[in-house]
Amino acid sequence: MKEKKYKWHKLADNISEINFSSNKMAKVQVAGKPICIALQNETLLACTSKCPHAGGILADGFVDASGNIVCPLHRYKFNLHNGRNSSGEGYFLKTFPVEIRKEGIFVGFEENNLFNW
Ligand code: FES
Repeated sequence: MKEKKYKWHKLADNISEINFSSNKMAKVQVAGKPICIALQNETLLACTSKCPHAGGILADGFVDASGNIVCPLHRYKFNLHNGRNSSGEGYFLKTFPVEIRKEGIFVGFEENNLFNW
């Protein structure tokens, strides 16, 4: 498989700059794109802002005990690590790698990504 190349964009200097709601999720802009950031067991995970099913705002959902993000609209579930539609409806959620570095928190967008969100 071809190795993915990422372009990294700075999201914040540190975690306290991210405005998480009580559900530990936040809707943020990275390089002009709205994405959803979730804080799960001290790990930051990122995915598209909108649900691939019918556009539900994922940051308004929640993360369940198994670590799946649950869409607020129809409750489809997605694995935040690999985008798999763990409730089985056959959709795929675009996820993004997040790195916490000395210089801040960075989100990686694939280069030459034809995927639009
Ligand atoms: S819009 Fe997300 S499950 Fe339907």
